[in-house]
Amino acid sequence: MKIVKVLLAVGLLVGNAGVRAESSGKPIDIVVHRSPTCTCCGKWLAHLKENNFNVEDIVTDDVQGIKDKHGVTQELASCHTAIVDGYVIEGHVPANDIKTLLKTKPKVVGLAVPGMVNGSPGMEMGDTKDPYKVVSFDHQKQVKEFNSYEGTK
Ligand code: CU
Ligand code: CU
Repeated sequence: MKIVKVLLAVGLLVGNAGVRAESSGKPIDIVVHRSPTCTCCGKWLAHLKENNFNVEDIVTDDVQGIKDKHGVTQELASCHTAIVDGYVIEGHVPANDIKTLLKTKPKVVGLAVPGMVNGSPGMEMGDTKDPYKVVSFDHQKQVKEFNSYEGTK
């Protein structure tokens, strides 16, 4: 009877550890550059934190300088620019897409959601959502679809 109990306990422990590793795991370090006046940036930061990112929040008056330095072109540009594991994340990219990027490690500079799309993480306004694409970009300025989201109708 005692042995059964011990085995059960071990099983529970192992099971819990497995679940924990999958749902959260080690927090992912990300550095976000944003301007002091942007409010949607703060909401995107909250979205990242909810999804197990460890956010270093750098407020700067020269977000454009960061974009230039990391090859973020005008047509890719959004409000904030983040760096995670050597990749550039531009704009309101969903946390799950960043996780996919870090898992699959494609040879790209980073991901972007250009502009400020209503309904993307941190840009939720009311009941409607606009459709949008998450794109990847590389040093040759090649832009490819990485993921896409349907809006509400
Ligand atoms: Cu924004
Ligand atoms: Cu922002």
